[in-house]
Amino acid sequence: MRFDDRVAVVSGGANGIGWATVERLLDEGARVAILDLETDAAAAKLAARASDHDTTLHRAEVFACDVTRAASVDEAVASVIERFGRIDVLAAVAGGDRLTDDELGEEHWTSIVDWNLHGPVRLIRACREALTASRGAIVMVGSVNGVAAYGEPAYASAKAGLTLLAKNLAVTFGPAGVRVNVVAPGTIRTRVWDTQGGPDRLAPLYPLGRVGEPADIAAAIAFLASDDASWITGVTLPVDGGSLAGPFAVMSHLLDAGE
Ligand SMILES: NC(=O)c1ccc[n+]([C@@H]2O[C@H](COP(=O)([O-])OP(=O)(O)OC[C@H]3O[C@@H](n4cnc5c(N)ncnc54)[C@H](O)[C@@H]3O)[C@@H](O)[C@H]2O)c1
Repeated sequence: MRFDDRVAVVSGGANGIGWATVERLLDEGARVAILDLETDAAAAKLAARASDHDTTLHRAEVFACDVTRAASVDEAVASVIERFGRIDVLAAVAGGDRLTDDELGEEHWTSIVDWNLHGPVRLIRACREALTASRGAIVMVGSVNGVAAYGEPAYASAKAGLTLLAKNLAVTFGPAGVRVNVVAPGTIRTRVWDTQGGPDRLAPLYPLGRVGEPADIAAAIAFLASDDASWITGVTLPVDGGSLAGPFAVMSHLLDAGE
């Protein structure tokens, strides 16, 4: 119960990695504010969970929020503070990619960077005072795309930006006791792969022989947000089944195996 009496804000908490993070933090005692566009989906998941875990329902609440709009983020965070009185953890999960043939297109870059890099900045700005008061922790969700060339340059650049955002804020927020880290997932089984033939076709690229589950990322987020990581700040932690360990070696192995 690492999060007893703590309040966590999870953007993108209605689905996928965000929802797994919400469940993990609830299981470990937190009160959780879900900030998402899909408020109905979040409410339905909480209601479904309540039948089995009725003690957790009163510890979670859903707030409408669009991380691409500063006013929406400010309003949602103000409501969280009004409702819960404090913020100890910010998990900035909301983000994603839109596949395009025009990978250097002006509109594509503006929207992808705004969503994946500026979105977390808006959340941090809104939560900063509360996190300073609690000596809290920030965990942002990047991607292996932000660490090496896996394609999709706009998305990759935005996710890579989170690494330097975390390093810089680790230095400036450190004296106030606020830690800032990033997790960089590989392929994770969420709905984003539904239109791309499912995630499992990529399993051979992972030395551990499978793609990741949302709970794999939630565990890493919970670790970095917890006191177990109290001397860790400014890092980007790959959670990737070994994909980044040696991409050339992985490909050589597959070629030798005739795949
Ligand atoms: N699934 C993967 O393979 C994978 C791999 C690496 C990184 N990621 C990253 O993990 C994060 C979550 O991805 P996922 O696969 O769980 O996606 P998902 O679509 O399952 O969940 C994303 C959630 O974020 C919410 N959201 C999207 N835009 C929002 C906005 N503007 N404001 C507020 N909420 C918004 C959605 O409503 C949804 O609930 C993203 O940042 C993504 O880039 C995913």
